[in-house]
Amino acid sequence: MARQSTTEETRNQTPKTVLITGASSGIGRACALRMDRAGWQVFATVRKDSDANRLQSETTARLQTVQLDVTDADQVKETARAVAEAVGANGLHGLINNAGIAGGGLLEFLDPADFRQVLETNTIAPLTVTQSLIPLLRKAQGRILMVSSEAGFSSTPLLSPYSASKFALEALTDGMRLELRPWGIDVVSVQPGAIDTDIWEKARYYAEKTLQKYPPGAFEMYGPLLEMMTESLERPRGVDPDKVAKTVQTILSVPRPKARYLVGRDAVFRRWLERLPTALRDKIIQSKMPKYGTAAIPKSDRRQAYSEEC
Ligand SMILES: NC(=O)c1ccc[n+]([C@@H]2O[C@H](COP(=O)([O-])OP(=O)(O)OC[C@H]3O[C@@H](n4cnc5c(N)ncnc54)[C@H](OP(=O)(O)O)[C@@H]3O)[C@@H](O)[C@H]2O)c1
Repeated sequence: MARQSTTEETRNQTPKTVLITGASSGIGRACALRMDRAGWQVFATVRKDSDANRLQSETTARLQTVQLDVTDADQVKETARAVAEAVGANGLHGLINNAGIAGGGLLEFLDPADFRQVLETNTIAPLTVTQSLIPLLRKAQGRILMVSSEAGFSSTPLLSPYSASKFALEALTDGMRLELRPWGIDVVSVQPGAIDTDIWEKARYYAEKTLQKYPPGAFEMYGPLLEMMTESLERPRGVDPDKVAKTVQTILSVPRPKARYLVGRDAVFRRWLERLPTALRDKIIQSKMPKYGTAAIPKSDRRQAYSEEC
């Protein structure tokens, strides 16, 4: 009996464990720093040695970095094996599927290969990473957090490839929440609005590459919209990533987490917008868009424009 309570005490003293994907920068890094400070044992996945070294220099010796490209099936398996060895019978208390990329552009000219990469990273990878860790999460009755987005419930021009990846992630999250509940595993969606991270700089680089692939006619047809995209990517924006990390810490700590958490006022606004009738919602979004296509031609001249085109 005495021996049993010693084992129980040791178990209680063992720090709780969490794996965070994409911890090199932005939201993932903020989560790693915060959960490390909170006394958890963090497994932080990164892709570069330099990112691993930087993170380790900023955290306690408890934090372990793991090299992981979430789209590489062998690396996902190897990560699950290494984490299983580290956590043993205690299992894993938290998984934060955070790694993600931006992806957008005009649907008329979207390269399917680019779209596949967004889906691979933002939708399929969170599924495969989770699958590989469910046995460890089951042992600890752990929690799975999906870093989704306001784009996971709201799709707008030029961003719909990214939205598609997050809408699909939401669908997986809803299904998983019910399938895993009988084991005491909670599955939660985190839906931030704009957050001030490197993703915007990467999105600008991605947009420049995408524009180069468009046929010249694309600029004639969609010029004002493309200009708006370029301008909006040049403006820095968003709240501090620690705001998301704080929400993540809450989700990992409360007795019964909610199914989804919005982060930031713009996410709350987008939720409100999406509850409006579609015609009104579209009108509000279109009022912020520049005029192009036949909409840019006065109504009286449109008939002539159509007949010239034919
Ligand atoms: N920033 C926002 O406004 C915002 C809003 C809503 C939701 N989100 C979501 O938040 C998550 C984190 O984004 P962030 O804003 O923090 O951007 P970020 O600073 O660019 O961080 C993205 C992280 O994902 C990693 N990553 C990308 N592809 C990967 C892959 N194939 N394998 C492993 N890691 C990979 C990156 O690693 P490398 O450094 O090696 O590339 C980086 O650590 C994403 O899922 C994003 O969709 C962001």
